[in-house]
Amino acid sequence: MLFKELNHSQCKTYLIGCRNTGSAMLVDPLYDRLDRYFAILGYYGLGLLYAVDTHTHADHRSGCFELREFLDCKIIRHQMAPQPNIDIHVEDGESIQLGEQEIKVLYTPGHTPDSISLLLHDRVLTGDVLLIGGTGRSDFSGGDAAAQYESITNKLFTLPGETRIYPGHDYRGNKFSTVSKERDHNPRISGKSRDEYIQIMNNLDLPLPEKIQEVLFTNITEEEDKEFNLPSISQLNDVNQISPEGLSVLVTQNQEPIIVDVRNPDEYSGKLGHIQGSVNIPLMELADRYRELAQYKNQQVILVCRSGVRSTTAAALLTGLGFKQVYDLKGGMVRWNNMLKK
Ligand SMILES: [Fe+2]
Repeated sequence: MLFKELNHSQCKTYLIGCRNTGSAMLVDPLYDRLDRYFAILGYYGLGLLYAVDTHTHADHRSGCFELREFLDCKIIRHQMAPQPNIDIHVEDGESIQLGEQEIKVLYTPGHTPDSISLLLHDRVLTGDVLLIGGTGRSDFSGGDAAAQYESITNKLFTLPGETRIYPGHDYRGNKFSTVSKERDHNPRISGKSRDEYIQIMNNLDLPLPEKIQEVLFTNITEEEDKEFNLPSISQLNDVNQISPEGLSVLVTQNQEPIIVDVRNPDEYSGKLGHIQGSVNIPLMELADRYRELAQYKNQQVILVCRSGVRSTTAAALLTGLGFKQVYDLKGGMVRWNNMLKK
């Protein structure tokens, strides 16, 4: 197996290659370093099968879509990833076969709801959930300190102690750590109770990454539309959420909320389906087409998308335009369908 970190910077991209079959995977590729990846793949004579994002990145633009465009690889993300245009959605416990190498997916939410770790026999790529001597922040993009605590203590720390840890970021020049080192010495989480950890994470008081809104928007929609006015983070935090169970109660009680689905038309008619009676207005068109909804300004309006990220932006936008009772469907169509299956 070939295993290399390619950026030599604080933001890590890993190349996993199977020399016998000439197949490769890139994990967390950066848009800004694509030339380097093309050159390295060419140098080793590897064909790129998969480009994986361990989660929706807020601090850099993903290179996955360009890699697919130029190299015909498949993009892999977790089922809860907000981005629609993904080839393979994975879930906890699934395996990805890369030549002779088997890579196991661990669902490790907390930094974001769509965070995964990738386990190769003696090492684990932890994305931004678990860092060396730290943990990724959980205060935006749907982060959840409690879920992060569970992911780290119940999944990552239960791996054999000698398992190497390769994180998505490192700010101190480390290359890797091990499960036992982090379990015993990570100052952020080692020996901490769940409540102590949540307390620590909720009081970090870090500034938001530069250009977070633009980067998130591009990573989620693949659009680079400078005309589109993005709501600010504080507006997004003010959005009311409704659970799938709450919405189904509303619908069965004949309260008939207005349901606006902000996915693209191909997703609306695609395999996740849509909620009966919903109107399809893609997020990118909402700023131009909101007048179609003007008569509902004082009614309950529920925004829906794939996993609840685009709908949060849409809900903030409509609230800003004077709509009084706007809600965002938590977890989007993914959770709606999970509820229907129960
Ligand atoms: Fe991250």
